[in-house]
Amino acid sequence: MTGMTVNERPVAFRLDPRTPLLYALREAMNLTGTKACGGGPACSGACMVLVDGVALRSCAITLAEAEGRIITTIEGLSRDRSHPVQQAMVAQQAVQCGYCTPGIVMSAAALLQRNAAPTREDIEGAVPNLCRCGVYPRLVKAIEQAGRVMQRQERVSAAPAPGISPEDAAKAVPALRVTPGG
Ligand code: FES
Ligand code: FES
Repeated sequence: MTGMTVNERPVAFRLDPRTPLLYALREAMNLTGTKACGGGPACSGACMVLVDGVALRSCAITLAEAEGRIITTIEGLSRDRSHPVQQAMVAQQAVQCGYCTPGIVMSAAALLQRNAAPTREDIEGAVPNLCRCGVYPRLVKAIEQAGRVMQRQERVSAAPAPGISPEDAAKAVPALRVTPGG
C-alpha cells in the first residue's frame, strides 16, 4: 500500500509501487482530467499535477516517490472551475481541442501561486507544456490576466460552474464579462 493525499483525501493504493502516478490517478481513482500524452521527448505535459504545490509530470513519478505527498489534480484545483487560470483561459479563448488544457492550468496555477506577476520569460520557463493547437499567444495573455485577478486588480467571470447551461449562466451573469479594476 502506498499512501498519499489526493485532492484533500487520504488514499492508499494497492498497486505496484513502481506504477506511474498518472495511471493510478486515472485508472484507480477515475481522475481522468489528468491526461496521458504518450511519453517520450515530444510529450506535452498534459499529465501535469501539483505535488506539494509544485507542478510535475505525473507520468514521471512513481507511487513510491509520491508516498506521503500532497497531490492536487485539475479536479481538486477548483471544483467549480472558478480558479483564475481557468476563468482567464476561457475569457481569452485559450482553449481549442482542450487536451493540453488541464496540464497547462496546473503549470500556470503553480507559477502564479509563487509569482502573480510573471514576465513572459517567467511564463515560458514555468509552463513547458506543448499545445498542438498553438494557443500560445492567447495562453500567455490568459496567464497574465489570471495573475492580475489573483492580485485583485481585475475580475473575470467567463465560464459557468458545471451543470449550469451557458444560457442560464448568461441570464445570471453576462457571459465573458471582464471587469478591469473591479
Ligand atoms: S504523459 Fe506526456 S508528459 Fe506525461
Ligand atoms: S488546445 Fe489542443 S493541444 Fe492545446
